[in-house]
Amino acid sequence: MIMGMRWNFLPNNICRAGVYGLICTAVLVTVGCSSQDNETQGSQSRGLDFEFYRENIEPLFFQSRGDFLPPDPGDPACVMCHTWQTSTPFMLASLEDNENGDVYWTEEQSRRNFEMVSGLVTPGDPDNSRLLLQPLSAEAGGTPMHTGGKYWDSKNNAEWQMLAEWVSNADFVENEPVPDVDFEFFRACVQPVFFSVTVDGMACANCHNAEFARADPEESWDYISGLGLIDPGYPTQSRLLMHPLHPDAGGDYVHNGVRRWLSQDDPEFQMLAGWINGEHVGASCPI
Ligand code: HEC
Ligand code: HEC
Repeated sequence: MIMGMRWNFLPNNICRAGVYGLICTAVLVTVGCSSQDNETQGSQSRGLDFEFYRENIEPLFFQSRGDFLPPDPGDPACVMCHTWQTSTPFMLASLEDNENGDVYWTEEQSRRNFEMVSGLVTPGDPDNSRLLLQPLSAEAGGTPMHTGGKYWDSKNNAEWQMLAEWVSNADFVENEPVPDVDFEFFRACVQPVFFSVTVDGMACANCHNAEFARADPEESWDYISGLGLIDPGYPTQSRLLMHPLHPDAGGDYVHNGVRRWLSQDDPEFQMLAGWINGEHVGASCPI
């Protein structure tokens, strides 16, 4: 079964060289390999509780959701698609299995899943949390469409309630101000990044000129905010930055484009992170 397999044999160092980033990414996409190796995090992310997550939330992701009982391992589970078959940020680690055929995530994998899943919810606000809206039927207030199907008919569903409890109980600092992400900074320093070419001859605009990398800064800006590609105050939860960041540096597993930043210390990455954190630079760009 695909979801039980692991493909950790690829040499990570191929992936480090920017020039080979594209090839490496293609290989990663083909075999669903992940080479992410973050340092261990604390037991909270954005005020959300890790223990509650591991015990109550994470099991929902590998539970089979077929129409037939008893559940068959072939029935769809979130994890079947959300390991490598989608390009969404909801990208879980591949499951491990033991000799009895039971599937599980190690604590370290769970922590990585937790960090990522935390970025898909708005602490304290279940009704504004992508994770809770995507599988919820549209009639009940969910999104219009989810390729993976709708699993919850109403917010009274026990799973939905469990998720809502986790999100509502987030112990975040109330009134923590959301930084004001500056359009002038964007226009002067960030948007030009989309058009600047790196050693591999690629600019974001080569592939994304119909999306966020528009020639008109206002159109780019509208696209980015409309799709929620940035999360003000949280650079490492922002798709715009995490997609092209190398997985070894904490970036998303899959990007069919380039890996532009090999480390979060890259000055360009730092500049973009400053922008997302609400820095204002006036007319002079930091780099
Ligand atoms: C059959 C494959 C499949 C299954 C099973 C599946 N999904 Fe998805 N899911 C997708 C695809 C493809 C997308 C991206 C396109 C879309 O939104 O429909 C997606 C998108 C999402 C998103 C949006 C991510 C974002 O960044 O906005 C969330 C959240 C999500 N799914 C949650 C779930 C949950 C929770 C489950 C299990 C209850 C689940 N999915 C089961 C295929 C699946
Ligand atoms: C060679 C083409 C190519 C280049 C260059 C490229 N990308 Fe991509 N990018 C893609 C493709 C294809 C996808 C969709 C599939 C995926 O997510 O990997 C994508 C997806 C994305 C997404 C996810 C969009 C979403 O709605 O979730 C973001 C964000 C992104 N790219 C940012 C960038 C940035 C920033 C750059 C420049 C530093 C860049 N990309 C350069 C091809 C490219």
